[in-house]
Amino acid sequence: MSVTRPSGYSRMQIRLHWITVILVALQYLLHEGIADAYDVAEETGVYAISAPVAGHIIGGTLILALAVWRLLLRNDRGTPPPPPGEPAVFARLAHWAHLGFYALLILLPVTGAMAWGGQIEAAGDAHEVLRALLLFLILAHVGAVAVHQLVWKTGLIARMMRPG
Ligand code: HEM
Ligand code: HEM
Repeated sequence: MSVTRPSGYSRMQIRLHWITVILVALQYLLHEGIADAYDVAEETGVYAISAPVAGHIIGGTLILALAVWRLLLRNDRGTPPPPPGEPAVFARLAHWAHLGFYALLILLPVTGAMAWGGQIEAAGDAHEVLRALLLFLILAHVGAVAVHQLVWKTGLIARMMRPG
């Protein structure tokens, strides 16, 4: 990590954040194909790759690759300091929430691949728990951004809009 912290996120970090948001939304919205195919696979042992299944696997693998890329960028460049005016306890929570996101964006594809490719049932169960955790973290994250924006008026959203 660089010694001096940057004043904001880079253009690439911002792009990757919003591309990931779209890809994650698609994983949740277009979930039926993989769910049905997995039910059939568990009953028959046939893991058939239809277009929705391929979409889920490709989307998830892309999310994994982008998460690793973002971690490398974070490590290389560092992260901007917490917004001025944010209570210290929230700054700490935000730090852990962000690391939690990266952990989930890596573990979800890994457990998904173990369930589908490795045919490990427990990995499917883990995939289920992890996607509930990710959903919870997203809700908390969006709630925190709203509090920043509307209550503390730190203009936080601009940090993920304009490179700094
Ligand atoms: C961050 C990436 C991912 C997210 C957010 C995600 C999300 C989801 C969601 C929401 C479902 C629910 C389907 C339902 O029951 O309605 C699901 C199921 C499933 N996903 Fe993923 N997925 C990701 C990556 C992957 C990858 C890369 C694979 C395979 C290589 C995969 C394999 C599966 C399988 C086999 C199921 C059905 C089994 C189960 O319900 O646990 N997923 N995923
Ligand atoms: C799939 C949904 C989302 C995921 C996985 C996600 C993930 C992340 C992560 C990991 C960071 C930290 C970046 C870093 O320091 O490396 C971040 C920051 C941020 N996100 Fe999200 N995000 C999501 C949705 C959203 C949405 C919907 C908004 C807008 C309402 C948003 C606004 C922001 C802002 C403003 C920051 C900067 C926070 C700061 O400067 O401390 N995110 N997000």
